[in-house]
Amino acid sequence: MRHLLATEGLSLENAVRILDTAEEMAAVGEREIKKLPALRGRTVVNLFFEDSTRTRISFEAAAKRLSADVINFAAKGSSVSKGESLKDTAQTLEAMSADAVVIRHWASGAPHRLAESGWINAAVINAGDGTHEHPTQALLDAFTLRRHWSRLAGTPSAGGNLAGMRIAVAGDVLHSRVARSNVWLLQTLGASVTLVAPPTLLPVGVEAWPCEVSYDLDSVLDRGVDAIMMLRVQAERMQASFFPSPREYSRRWGFDDARLARLDELGLADTVILHPGPMNRGLEISSAAADSPRSTVLAQVRNGVSVRMAALYLLLSGNLHPEPAPGHRAATTSETAL
Ligand code: NCD
Repeated sequence: MRHLLATEGLSLENAVRILDTAEEMAAVGEREIKKLPALRGRTVVNLFFEDSTRTRISFEAAAKRLSADVINFAAKGSSVSKGESLKDTAQTLEAMSADAVVIRHWASGAPHRLAESGWINAAVINAGDGTHEHPTQALLDAFTLRRHWSRLAGTPSAGGNLAGMRIAVAGDVLHSRVARSNVWLLQTLGASVTLVAPPTLLPVGVEAWPCEVSYDLDSVLDRGVDAIMMLRVQAERMQASFFPSPREYSRRWGFDDARLARLDELGLADTVILHPGPMNRGLEISSAAADSPRSTVLAQVRNGVSVRMAALYLLLSGNLHPEPAPGHRAATTSETAL
């Protein structure tokens, strides 16, 4: 496997190898000197066509902890805003001898295009493409959940076993690459996933995904969940009105204070709350929930660095197994569009 483009089609073997290596990387992160020489002399380019705070910083920290040289390339203020195509940008990077290109793009399928085009030799890592996939986010979520699940079981955080874990992923599924990547990865790792959203915020074809679907957050909580992942309402991707009002949204689909209290009433003492960030406090999640001891939001950010170190290291050292052709579910972007 040369590129990390999606979790759809990512084998259990490779997923576990990334998660187990991330545990080793996390141990390095606890040392006083957090740096490893593993990628000394290699160049990692962060190619961001969409705004990002934590993902870009996280990849930068990961590459630097592995001693790689890092070039940050933001599309705003670059020749991309003058209309330069992905192909020209890619070939410029190739001429600079990039070993890995971490790409975030507003177009679903752009990372696949880059990886399969022959324009570059570098390993390509998808850092979020349109509404398609965000595999390293799903891996860091799985890493966070695996640690939680194994702590409860009193076993080391290793292997792929999330069997028996019930996970609800709730909110704006329609626009969420995080939801897509998580559904595929979590089911590969053995968890059972329920998507919860208003009907207007569920994608066409969701019936074919390996998960259950519900419109009713309270009934999903009442049945019992071990983790609940809240998704951001992605207003910037909404051209129409998908729900009556923010108040109505947070009452029906937000993780508010009442639902936080409900977890205690239900005796769900070990249920954790995830959010990929950035959060709309008061909309999909209340401040009390986001800042409660159940919240894993900051642990997710911390774990993101370890997981991205693992992905960069394994791809650049050729230590992942060959995969069958990756899924092309939303990889529909044409060359001209880029
Ligand atoms: C997510 C993204 O960009 O897809 N955020 C992130 O990577 N931390 C989720 C989001 O923007 O809501």
